[in-house]
Amino acid sequence: MLDAEVRELMQPFVLSDYQVQEVYSRFCLEVARGLKRSTHPQANVKCFPTYVQDLPTGDEMGKYLALDLGGTNFRVLLVSLKGHHDATVDSQIYAVPKDLMVGPGVDLFDHIAGCLAKFVEKHDMKTAYLPLGFTFSFPCVQLGLKEGILVRWTKGFDCAGVEGEDVGRMLHEAIQRRGDADIAVVAILNDTTGTLMSCAHRNADCRVGVIVGTGCNACYVEDVENVDLLRADFKKTKRSVIVNAEWGAFGEGGQLDFVRTEYDREVDEKSLNRSEQLFEKMTAGMYLGNLVRLVLLRALERKLIFKQSSRRPEFASVLQRNEEVFETRYISEIEDDSFPEFASTRKIVKNLFGLEKASVEDCQTLRYICECVAKRAATLVAIGVSGLVNRTSNRRVIVGMDGSVYRYHPEFDAYMRQTLQKLVKEDKEWDIMLSEDGSGRGAALVAAVASKTK
Ligand code: GLC
Repeated sequence: MLDAEVRELMQPFVLSDYQVQEVYSRFCLEVARGLKRSTHPQANVKCFPTYVQDLPTGDEMGKYLALDLGGTNFRVLLVSLKGHHDATVDSQIYAVPKDLMVGPGVDLFDHIAGCLAKFVEKHDMKTAYLPLGFTFSFPCVQLGLKEGILVRWTKGFDCAGVEGEDVGRMLHEAIQRRGDADIAVVAILNDTTGTLMSCAHRNADCRVGVIVGTGCNACYVEDVENVDLLRADFKKTKRSVIVNAEWGAFGEGGQLDFVRTEYDREVDEKSLNRSEQLFEKMTAGMYLGNLVRLVLLRALERKLIFKQSSRRPEFASVLQRNEEVFETRYISEIEDDSFPEFASTRKIVKNLFGLEKASVEDCQTLRYICECVAKRAATLVAIGVSGLVNRTSNRRVIVGMDGSVYRYHPEFDAYMRQTLQKLVKEDKEWDIMLSEDGSGRGAALVAAVASKTK
């Protein structure tokens, strides 16, 4: 049985029906404000048009390179589109050293171009002409398919000299500086766009793409008439366009203050991008572990966990060591654990604190804390998804999803569905589908569709 005091500790994370409805209304309003030219500058859900106007048909063919920058890893991929909704992907992961994440931007792009050159060499493609789709998962104002001006860094990146610049051009210049491969940057896209495209490749009803990974964001298909910021010449021929919501920034106008907790405020205050990305800080993998860490510190202080142990102050200092000690993946592992053995939970507790055999009660408390933090995240994500699903003009809407939190948390999908059931309009038929390598396949598809349009 859970202690009533533990329930009380976690109460601020449990969203009431009223709060869910209220966040939903505020979110929908921000989306509408983001889309409108007159309110866009003040809106915090920016709704950037992506210039991707065609969804894949499934018969795309050809070889494409793709780059994926914006999560924990940087990847280079070779994607072969084979028609018949089929594709193969060959990829290589490269580390982005921490100092490059916050160093001069030119160094970051030189590193990317260097990895790209190595990859091309390894695949014996140095002399081939290769079109490249660049999945750059940060907020960008797009001026066209291959021009993306970085608005601001998120997720722990902070390289000088890139904000306000065209990242497509910066990548092109870095490739030129090396001069050892014939690669053309033909498209810049967000990872959410890649997710939507790769799911639409499989299922023609996909209209929303969502990432819940290191960061959290979504895109969706909107009618061109509602997208004031889309260049007029692009409105003439096509009915719709993918809009990158950049919903991570939701709440920067105070919209979430009525549900944010003291822990959310602390996460924000200690972050690299203070007062920014407040919705993201309640939902994304980069922050969820830290939230649990802060709650655990409070639970230790109030003697709500590890009550029997005299080593509580020592445990607290472990948690105070740094913000990453309680990794987000632990949340998934703990919620996936079996009762009453708690094998994974006990292992985590042992590795963190050196505590041999945590009691069943302690394991249950820890699990409840994780559950409340994850469930709130899933509920908030589902509120956003509902808002976007309800905006699309299709009756049947598939939501394409990706990201480590969604993928590995055993209940995230189920938590999301509970909220979607409450908020999606009754006349809609919806479902969620897991994306397969959106950043690679999706990038190749955007590149392919772009060449088709030409
Ligand atoms: C951050 C970025 C956004 C990206 C998301 C998921 O929110 O700003 O562009 O889609 O992370 O990676």
